Formats: sequence, C-alpha cells, structure tokens
Amino acid sequence: MGEDPLKGSTTTTISPAALLTWRRERLAEGGTGASLAWLLDVGGGLSKSAHHGLMLQTHTTAQLSRGLDELTYLWHLHLDQHPLQYLLGLCPWRDLMIHVAPGVLIPRPETELLVDVASQLVNSTPAHPILWADLGTGSGCLALALALACPSSHGLAVDKDSRALAVARQNLKPVAGRVGLLAGNWWQPLQPWQGQLTMVVSNPPYIPTAALDQLDPVVRCHEPQLALDGGADGLQCFRHLLAGVSALAPGGWLVVEHGQGQAPALEQLFAIAGLTTITRHQDLEGNDRFLAGCAPHPWP
Ligand SMILES: C[S@@+](CC[C@H](N)C(=O)[O-])C[C@H]1O[C@@H](n2cnc3c(N)ncnc32)[C@H](O)[C@@H]1O
Repeated sequence: MGEDPLKGSTTTTISPAALLTWRRERLAEGGTGASLAWLLDVGGGLSKSAHHGLMLQTHTTAQLSRGLDELTYLWHLHLDQHPLQYLLGLCPWRDLMIHVAPGVLIPRPETELLVDVASQLVNSTPAHPILWADLGTGSGCLALALALACPSSHGLAVDKDSRALAVARQNLKPVAGRVGLLAGNWWQPLQPWQGQLTMVVSNPPYIPTAALDQLDPVVRCHEPQLALDGGADGLQCFRHLLAGVSALAPGGWLVVEHGQGQAPALEQLFAIAGLTTITRHQDLEGNDRFLAGCAPHPWP
C-alpha cells in the first residue's frame, strides 16, 4: 500500500454540494451506493440519517472525521477488492462496533440472529448462572453479544487461530470478567468443563472446499481459509463439533449456523450424535440457516 495516508487524519467540514460531487465522482469509478454510504458512516462518521439531513438542508455543513482525500484513497482500495471492514478495522454488527483485522472473519449480518436463538434458549433455562461456550469465536462477536444478552452467565470462547484470539481479546474487553478466551481445537480446551455447558454456539467453516474458488474475490482473496473451508461436503467441522457434544450438560443446547441447503444432512448428524428437540431456525429471508439440538436428560 506504500505510505499510509490515513496517519494524522483530521476532521473536515463539507457542504452538501461538495459531498454530492464527491459521491458522484466515486460512484462513477465503480462500487455501490450502499458501500459508499458505509464508508461515509464508519470511515467518515457521517451516518445515513445525517447524510440525508445534509442533502435536505443545503445551507448547512457537516463534519467528516476523515478528509475526502483519505476517504477517496480507501474507496480506491475497496474497488481493488480490499474489504472496507479490514481497511477501517471495524465492522458494525448488531448494536456493537466489532474490531476486525486481516486473518479474522468479518462478522456477517445473518450471524446476528444466532445470538437471538441462543439467548432465548439460555434465558428460558431455569438454572442460573449458566456456563456457555462459543467454538470458533473469530472476532469474538458472538461471545460478546451473548455475554451482553445473558448478563448472569459466564462464557468460554475458543479458537485455533492466534490472530483471531488477539482480536477477540480486544472485542471482549467490556465483558472480560465473564468470558474466558481459550486457544485450541474445538472442544479440546474445554475438557475441564466437561458435562457443564448449558449452551454451546458455533458458526464453524461450512463452505465445501470445491466452492471456495467461486467465492467473491473480496472474500476469497482476503478472508482466512481456516474460517471458510468446511471440507469436501462442507460438514466436516460439524462432525468434529458433534463428536464432542457429551461436553454439554444434560438439557444443554448446541446451536449452530450452517450454509443454505445443509439443514437436512445436519439434522441427521445431530440425531446420530444423540441430540433431541432438533429445531431449524431461519434467517430474515426465510432460509433455514441455524440448527438447535438439546442434550438428553440424562445422556443415554
Ligand atoms: C466462520 S468463522 C466464525 C467466526 C465468528 N464466530 C463469527 O461468527 O463471525 C469460523 C472460526 O472457526 C475457527 N476454527 C476453524 N477451525 C477450528 C478448530 N479446529 N478449532 C477451533 N476453531 C477453529 C476459525 O479460526 C474461525 O475463527
């Protein structure tokens, strides 16, 4: 990237006319209005509503937290297939601002719903405080949201990748007293808590290896293979997860995110692993994207 023009960034005052011209010039170079609005919001501190307000009140001005030259530089890198989230080191997700960095999966909007499924199950559990785990925590987004949604709980967040653990540590600072971070392979670091976990969430890699080449270059060239590659049929990490479900407390839940079309095969794997009350949950477009299963009470 050469010299970093982002160093020493300053706030800039901008008129609606100047912003409109800059916007037109950038979109003429490529990209989408949604991405440009995202850059202005997260990179320039100009929210969508402030942006709209500015366009309606043509005699006012707005403050940008970065100069237009810097925003243009970031836009050009984005058009060169660099994810904006990595360029800015941030990703808005649920009502949180998650730190991200190359080597760590950028949290996806659909994963936000996994928190709702899991926290509803946790909050309907009679025994509190409970212990939960997030396997393959990446940025720690799920662990942070679950800790905030279930304030009387304690959690453990596991990842194999040291870069992910470093970013997760940063994101989990607000709940550091209630969430432990562990390095290792899926269940292996959780052995001391065998049979004590009331909730385990996971968004494991689930893209079939052969499909990785077809991913959008912005994903394929920048996001970590360890976070994407689900093996030959995309289900390999689920098999590892299901091999360890005896770590669940009787009546405890495993809730996972999966790829589109994987629900029927995954339901069978859940049943073979001995889980009961297997329930599909949908994303906002109505696609089956999450599966929950309960450990029997007691384990057979
Ligand atoms: C799809 S990403 C999910 C990250 C984050 N939970 C999210 O939802 O954005 C999968 C994560 O699993 C981690 N992972 C892959 N294989 C693993 C393994 N064998 N043990 C533990 N974590 C693993 C990756 O490093 C990655 O952070």
